[in-house]
Amino acid sequence: MTRHVRIVEVGPRDGLQNEKTQVPTAAKIELVDRLSATGLRTIEATSFVSPKWVPQLADAAEVFAGIAKKPGVSYPVLVPNLQGYERALAAGAREVAVFTAASEAFNRKNTNAGVDESLARFAPVLERARADGVQVRGYVSTVLGCPYQGEVPLAEVVRVAAALHAMGCYEISLGDTIGVGTPARARAMLRAVAGAVPMAALAVHFHDTWGQALANILACLEEGVGVVDSAVSGAGGCPYARGASGNVASEDVVYMLHGMGIDTGIDLDALADTGRWLADLLGRETGSKAGRALAAR
Ligand code: HMG
Ligand code: MG
Repeated sequence: MTRHVRIVEVGPRDGLQNEKTQVPTAAKIELVDRLSATGLRTIEATSFVSPKWVPQLADAAEVFAGIAKKPGVSYPVLVPNLQGYERALAAGAREVAVFTAASEAFNRKNTNAGVDESLARFAPVLERARADGVQVRGYVSTVLGCPYQGEVPLAEVVRVAAALHAMGCYEISLGDTIGVGTPARARAMLRAVAGAVPMAALAVHFHDTWGQALANILACLEEGVGVVDSAVSGAGGCPYARGASGNVASEDVVYMLHGMGIDTGIDLDALADTGRWLADLLGRETGSKAGRALAAR
């Protein structure tokens, strides 16, 4: 098992995109800046998708312009197409993330396009990114189940992940969008994808809908993955994934990793403070059990 794990903090994007009440731009900026002070090296800052589809993140350019760009920290942003890429680049982004799914039905709901159509949309994005020296991450959603079509064939997960990698994505994040996976299936899925894409270029992205996320992450760590996506305070969910709940909480992942002697470079207390600050801002209790336990000390 790896001795160091890189956490990709997706709270400012995946965590906020489904919030119904508009979060002030200044608070989004403060969230990213608080996160970059915890030792996190990768923070997905916002999303340049259509503001009609995700109104919460319509202020992406203002958020990106306002955050402190800490040296050594990468601030990827989500882009669905060339238009999003151009907006992101104009705002100063140096890393973007494209996203598609292993399920045709989900991808249509989420991006109004079939899977192959979305891959075709990414081709010019990757071409431009290569010329601009911008790094591109790729997401595959619904790797362990789809809210609309149910079962997702493993072969399709492998095919889409390999296609994104072949197009030039430096890392492929495998998303259990609706959190239905269990450890043996998560492990089998990762093993299958690792047959087509090097393990060093893979990340896992679990939502905790069924309470399986930490167990799934452990299974994937044992399989050799070294990059884990999570959201501070367990915020999040995709607005176009019926039944999806929050991401696995970053605090809980970091507590588990540190307890296993795996280094993350993250200050857990500072992260948990940020998680409670965010929960306060959103008017709810933190979704992180480690965050609650630390507060009770
Ligand atoms: P569409 O309606 O088919 O787009 O949406 P279109 O190309 O026909 O354009 C329609 C209008 O949108 C036009 O404006 C465009 O200019 C505008 P109009 O002429 O009507 O005024 N538009 C844009 N505006 C700003 N930025 C853009 C952009 N693109 C078009 N980038 C589209 C297609 C892909 C744009 C839309 O479906 C979309 O934005 N979807 C995003 C949905 C989303 O953000 N979902 C959540 C993120 S994915 C996720 O959460 C999963 C993940 O966490 C992993 C996991 O958990 O599995 C990553
Ligand atoms: Mg997600």
